[in-house]
Amino acid sequence: MLRELVAKNRSYRRFYENEKPSSEQLKAWIDLARLGASGRNAQTIKYMIILSEEMCESVFEQLAWAGYLQDWDGPRKGERPSAYVVMVNDDALGKNYFSDDGIAAQNLLLGAVERGFGGCIIRAFKEKELRELLKIEAGYSIIQLIALGKPKEEVVIEEMNNGDIKYWRDENGVHHVPKRGIDEIILEEL
Ligand SMILES: Cc1cc2nc3c(=O)[nH]c(=O)nc-3n(C[C@H](O)[C@H](O)[C@H](O)COP(=O)(O)O)c2cc1C
Repeated sequence: MLRELVAKNRSYRRFYENEKPSSEQLKAWIDLARLGASGRNAQTIKYMIILSEEMCESVFEQLAWAGYLQDWDGPRKGERPSAYVVMVNDDALGKNYFSDDGIAAQNLLLGAVERGFGGCIIRAFKEKELRELLKIEAGYSIIQLIALGKPKEEVVIEEMNNGDIKYWRDENGVHHVPKRGIDEIILEEL
């Protein structure tokens, strides 16, 4: 069911690092991204696949994780993503990618979750360092990365209390994500 899949598609940040998606799987998930809606149908977003252990390690160094978890510096060795998809904009095709990036990321992640994998959208990255590391040519802008792997953590959604948007981790390592209630977000039914 779609709702189950969407609910299961949480931001996962700890993984079984030795369980890697295959190149074919990653391409199948990027294919789902490709099928998404695109403003003006311009389809300016392109993808880089990062699968090698060495490159995954180097990419990891350029990322920031879970800003609200103050005493956590991100996943430790052995629990890091085993793959990344880097989403870049091909500026020659158009500089405005509207909402395409979010739609594409969600499609890709749903594909991963359907196959027992999962991931996290990462926008907090060292732009200059990542560009150099991946040898990204002028004319391409890095939009975001999708960190991927086999999730090694439980993530639960809960009703938001008093407008507190901060996710948190309990003593058993379960990650809690508060979501606003449906009654709060529907302003009017006219
Ligand atoms: C545009 C965007 C950028 C994000 N950037 C980061 C990031 O840099 N680092 C990180 O750990 N999580 C990042 N996240 C994940 C969010 O923190 C996460 O979506 C939020 O806590 C809600 O959790 P959920 O995805 O499980 O619903 C990002 C999510 C989105 C949509």
